[in-house]
Amino acid sequence: MPRADSCQSRSLYIPRDATILSVTELTSREKLFRLRLSDGSELKHLPGQFIQLSILGYGEAPISVASPPTRQGYFELGIRRVGSLTTAMHALKRGDKVGIRGPYGTPFDLGSMGGKDLLLISGGCGLAPMRSLIQYAADRKSEFGRVTILYGARSPDQLLFREDLDKWETISGFACSYTVDSREGDGCYSGSTGLITDLIRPIELSPAETEAVIVGPPAMYTPVIAALKEKGLSSQQISLSLERQMRCGVGKCGHCSIEHLYCCQDGPVFRLNVIEHLHGAL
Ligand SMILES: Cc1cc2nc3c(=O)[nH]c(=O)nc-3n(C[C@H](O)[C@H](O)[C@H](O)COP(=O)(O)OP(=O)(O)OC[C@H]3O[C@@H](n4cnc5c(N)ncnc54)[C@H](O)[C@@H]3O)c2cc1C
Ligand code: FES
Repeated sequence: MPRADSCQSRSLYIPRDATILSVTELTSREKLFRLRLSDGSELKHLPGQFIQLSILGYGEAPISVASPPTRQGYFELGIRRVGSLTTAMHALKRGDKVGIRGPYGTPFDLGSMGGKDLLLISGGCGLAPMRSLIQYAADRKSEFGRVTILYGARSPDQLLFREDLDKWETISGFACSYTVDSREGDGCYSGSTGLITDLIRPIELSPAETEAVIVGPPAMYTPVIAALKEKGLSSQQISLSLERQMRCGVGKCGHCSIEHLYCCQDGPVFRLNVIEHLHGAL
């Protein structure tokens, strides 16, 4: 059942103008857009939250913010070209304008992560939302323990944020490993080949001191969760960012429901113990 109106409802559906500051090609189907709200204000998001991106004539889609609030004056969106809106977005250039609503949804639980070791596991396009948390932890290193970043992609040409991956590896207290399912298409690739779970098994962690986060395609949830539980982590120590088809993004239309929860308001970041028994959540 759609939720009650709030006093903000008059302006809920009116997007704010944002200007594209730069566009970087990440792969053949993903681009990173750096934007600034046209009125000069900050987005005021937290890592894990998303915005509703709109382009006149093409509609709206939820996109996670890929940069942290610690880097001011801009925010970034990593966007895969899949349909009409994202294809229109990929055609835009520096100086073009888009609409932004939000930020919306639950962030990663930074409060509980304070002082803990972080195990951040992403697959495919999931590194975009995770990057916001990784860069946040890099900017506020003293607030966290060890940070281990694991990332899997299908093939070398689909690895996102290659430069960032190399940079994160060099930060003291950070470890970063990535792997691809297959080397196909890149004879020069010299990194790991195999599944993301192959990266989890050799890791030594202190289960009581660790918070794990998973962002990626649903196919990775079951094996990654099983590998984390083998390492001694409980469901309360594992968070996931879920993707659901959305319309309003603000708890009004019911489009994104997972039983009694709305992915747009109760999520997209959920603790595993909250959703593991819900039908169709994982
Ligand atoms: C919380 C959240 C955060 C997201 N963050 C990002 C992000 O950072 N970067 C990014 O590139 N994408 C992200 N997405 C996905 C993005 O919103 C969809 O790909 C969006 O539909 C693209 O719009 P479009 O008009 O280009 O494609 P459409 O024309 O809407 O759809 C293209 C195809 O994708 C399918 N599809 C659409 N949405 C989803 C979905 N949520 N799950 C599964 N299949 C779907 C459609 O059925 C269709 O087959 C996120 C989605 C959610 C819910
Ligand atoms: S209730 Fe409308 S998208 Fe979540």
